[in-house]
Amino acid sequence: MLEIKKINVSYGPLQVLFEISLDVKEGEIVCLAGRNGAGKTTLCKAIMGLLPISSGEVNLDGESLIKSPSHLIPRKGIALVPQGRRLFSELTVGENLEIGLMNQRDESSTLEWIFSLFPRLEERLNQVSSTLSGGEQQMLAMARALCLNPKVLILDEPTEGLQPSMVELIRTTTKQLVQKGVSILLVEQRFDAIIELSKRVVIIENGRNSMILDHASLVANPSVLKHELGV
Ligand SMILES: Nc1ncnc2c1ncn2[C@@H]1O[C@H](COP(=O)(O)OP(=O)(O)OP(=O)(O)O)[C@@H](O)[C@H]1O
Ligand SMILES: [Mg+2]
Repeated sequence: MLEIKKINVSYGPLQVLFEISLDVKEGEIVCLAGRNGAGKTTLCKAIMGLLPISSGEVNLDGESLIKSPSHLIPRKGIALVPQGRRLFSELTVGENLEIGLMNQRDESSTLEWIFSLFPRLEERLNQVSSTLSGGEQQMLAMARALCLNPKVLILDEPTEGLQPSMVELIRTTTKQLVQKGVSILLVEQRFDAIIELSKRVVIIENGRNSMILDHASLVANPSVLKHELGV
């Protein structure tokens, strides 16, 4: 499904990603972990075409995305929920979703699906999004990303700064999405979430691939991941 091969990414003269590779297969959650500043967000943005990739490949179902302009990537089937969830904060829940649904042919069934995942949003359609709780804002950011029925959803630290009940809810929804066939690349730093959710964890260190652990080795040897996360 999503295949990243040896990509190099720089901010101006400063190279941040070096030969990074990873795969997300159909119906999988792959976690991307690594310390602050390792390059996780940079990788998410590069996949979305928001940063230039100097060399390497990004393929979705065998099709190269490397030359696609960033506004076409979501239509090709990859959606990003950015770190810190950027909503149109002065607009209502409904208006945010309308923007997400632009260019979507089958609006009503998509909305129905989204409200089945996030019933709270349906109850708050007319609420201005800046007045939602942090967890509700995260739900709206995810809902908006789901408006184009992506094959791959990239979530950049979706539970950062949320209270425990919201963390739980976002995790439950993440699992439901995978059951519905969405593949997920999840940037996640919390050890328990990685163990609970991921099929594999890809760890990056200083912009380079450090380690890839599958679920069985994570469970068998949790201290390896703990060490990598610095916990
Ligand atoms: N716009 C930018 N211009 C220059 N350097 C940047 C820019 N954005 C990020 N960087 C640098 O790139 C490196 C990787 O940053 P990135 O945000 O990808 O890390 P991260 O792994 O997502 O960290 P965190 O866990 O804190 O979110 C850091 O050294 C950061 O300072
Ligand atoms: Mg980040």
